[in-house]
Amino acid sequence: MGEPYLIGEAMTGGYGKGADILHACTIAVERGEIAVIVGPNGAGKSTAMKAVFGMLDLRSGHVRLDGRDITKLSPQDRVAQGMGFVPQTHNIFGSMTVEENLEMGAFIRRDDFRGTLAQVYDLFPILKDKRHQAAGELSGGQRQQVAVGRALMTQPKVLMLDEPTAGVSPIVMDELFDRIIEVARSGISILMVEQNARQALEIADKGYVLVQGANAFTGTGKDLLENPDVRRSFLGG
Ligand SMILES: Nc1ncnc2c1ncn2[C@@H]1O[C@H](COP(=O)(O)OP(=O)(O)OP(=O)(O)O)[C@@H](O)[C@H]1O
Ligand SMILES: [Mg+2]
Repeated sequence: MGEPYLIGEAMTGGYGKGADILHACTIAVERGEIAVIVGPNGAGKSTAMKAVFGMLDLRSGHVRLDGRDITKLSPQDRVAQGMGFVPQTHNIFGSMTVEENLEMGAFIRRDDFRGTLAQVYDLFPILKDKRHQAAGELSGGQRQQVAVGRALMTQPKVLMLDEPTAGVSPIVMDELFDRIIEVARSGISILMVEQNARQALEIADKGYVLVQGANAFTGTGKDLLENPDVRRSFLGG
């Protein structure tokens, strides 16, 4: 087994001239697998995702995609290299329709993206019904589907999701996780941050617990679910 498909390795850095938020933090995902990042609020989970996507200047460490060093690439160039990112907040255009949001997602494509649009509607049928409605009028779970669908429009090889189930009911969370598993089965790697740690680790091939910008525990999802320290500190016993 070579190195992971996408890896942010020993990443150290912070925002602007401020103190470092990440301290030699490593997160990675294998091809077609699901990797999940959990940890307390403020641990640096979103910062680690932004670092992997090129939205943060690293003081040290590297990001590699399919064996190539992409540490210096802009986020837009990373999209062109096959990365998709759904940020934790502001991940849709509320005043635009569902379909316009999805079309915006295809911004880097010069080819015909109607086939991909049809795939997104197959994955999330409710979005097809509501395609002419303003995205801001949708429920929380539906808005997250728009955000995920938008990222899929560039046909990424790896999809990064920061708290895709934030603010949705347990039933909607289960549905979203099922769709995410479906995306992974289609060969797309998933790297996601989740506050619903237990449920997310259940579907994770690999799990990372981050604390204060550093790796506290790393293992398979099952390892972490069974680890007494992880259970006590992060999974509520
Ligand atoms: N744009 C920013 N500028 C400066 N500091 C920031 C910025 N965004 C986050 N931080 C700081 O970085 C630290 C880590 O924040 P981050 O958002 O990465 O945590 P998180 O693990 O994603 O938390 P949550 O679970 O609440 O989403 C916090 O101390 C936060 O205040
Ligand atoms: Mg966050």
